[in-house]
Amino acid sequence: MIILAISNQKGGVGKTTTTQHMAAVLGAEHHSRVLAVDLDPQFNLTKAAGVDVDHLTASVYQVLVTQAATLRDVIQPTEQGYDIAPADPRLGSADIELVSAGRVNWHLALRKALATLGGSYDWVLLDCPPALGTLTVNALHAAHGVVIPVTPELWPISGMQLLFSAIQVASAEGNPGLEVLAAIPTMVRRGKPHTGMLERMQTVFEGVPIGPSVMLSDHFQSAALAGTTVIHRSPSSAAAASYRNVTEFVVRAVEARQRRPATRILVGA
Ligand SMILES: Nc1ncnc2c1ncn2[C@@H]1O[C@H](COP(=O)(O)OP(=O)(O)O)[C@@H](O)[C@H]1O
Ligand SMILES: [Mg+2]
Repeated sequence: MIILAISNQKGGVGKTTTTQHMAAVLGAEHHSRVLAVDLDPQFNLTKAAGVDVDHLTASVYQVLVTQAATLRDVIQPTEQGYDIAPADPRLGSADIELVSAGRVNWHLALRKALATLGGSYDWVLLDCPPALGTLTVNALHAAHGVVIPVTPELWPISGMQLLFSAIQVASAEGNPGLEVLAAIPTMVRRGKPHTGMLERMQTVFEGVPIGPSVMLSDHFQSAALAGTTVIHRSPSSAAAASYRNVTEFVVRAVEARQRRPATRILVGA
């Protein structure tokens, strides 16, 4: 079971879209067993996966925060080739509830919950919230690798350093094998400004493999409106091909990591 955190503390950079589309490629096309875990209180992935959020009795909130449910209790199948552990807005209080309750090892709640799944899944994709709070810290302690979707706008370089620091802390404090497997340029437009930004990205992400770009495309909105993925709705589009390329890139990065001793951490300089 390979666990990947799809993370960037910036919102609107394509974390949820990347999680959903990698899950669809791995599940619907590679025929792997895939679980997507929604860790965002805004529960965008849960909605995108087609979960009836109005009739949700338990979510990742009960699994991680109140411990009133197990992960298996909340997992649902989707029609997109993967299973989902849904989120709900109550996850928004996780930072307060997990820490102020004085819970010992609150940062390992997700790792422990995933360990109960045994060999049920080949891949687990963690859709992180746009913050470096307790939920992202849980994801970084549970994951083998991090995938960072990033839009080629003027880089908030200090922002990236914060994420790299959080990864380094998780690695130093109990998850030594954690690696940044790829930064994925998303919503890329053709033309000089974005090309320049992509070049600058090589510097900011020094040491981090830059994956294939995902171009800005209307196919993503159309698929979202239709309640599905681009992989299902527009399988022959360039947008679908780009997430096949991204998935292939990440799978190869995982395979390469498995051949190395689990002591090296790759983060930006
Ligand atoms: N390559 C793309 N082209 C066009 N729209 C995109 C693309 N990737 C994501 N989007 C849209 O951008 C918005 C933000 O993406 P999302 O994946 O929700 O970001 P995040 O999870 O980082 O907040 C969503 O409306 C999504 O449909
Ligand atoms: Mg999101």
